[in-house]
Amino acid sequence: MERTLIIFKPDAVNRGLAGKMVTRFEDKGLKIIAIKMETLNPYKLKEHYAHHKEKDFYDELIKFMTSIPSILFVVEGKEVCAVVRKMIGSTLGREAEPGTIRGDFSVSNQANLIHASENVDVAEDEIKRFFDKSEIHSYQKMDFDWVYAKKEKGYLDSKDK
Ligand code: CMP
Repeated sequence: MERTLIIFKPDAVNRGLAGKMVTRFEDKGLKIIAIKMETLNPYKLKEHYAHHKEKDFYDELIKFMTSIPSILFVVEGKEVCAVVRKMIGSTLGREAEPGTIRGDFSVSNQANLIHASENVDVAEDEIKRFFDKSEIHSYQKMDFDWVYAKKEKGYLDSKDK
């Protein structure tokens, strides 16, 4: 079953939006299999944002992201990377579509509340970077049979059926 890494950034924590934001993912029917609050390690973060190293906002971004704790999640679902990226909206909060998390709660490009993995391959690396295996849980979600059709469940790991 597909997994993604989600980070509620320091602005989401400081503005007290974590509850509202996590509710959206729960309401959507996605399965949270790991969650923790942590001030992000600058070394891991530099690795995470390595592709932005040359950007003029890079140093500020690292400072911002390590300023106070973030909340990190691993979330599971069918095609979950694409589903979550759609739910969070485009990078610049001012331009993000209403109805998305950034579109509803952010007006910034840096303070855009949330990170989610771009695709399955990236997600695998990002989850390994921020979570130990022992922090990721396997459990039967009560509403599972009502969230997916039988055919869709055919794509899932047998342990999740
Ligand atoms: P995200 O897309 O999750 O990952 C890269 C982050 O860099 C992005 O969120 C923003 O937090 C930040 N970012 C992107 N563009 C800018 C910008 N123009 N100025 C400042 N920060 C930015």
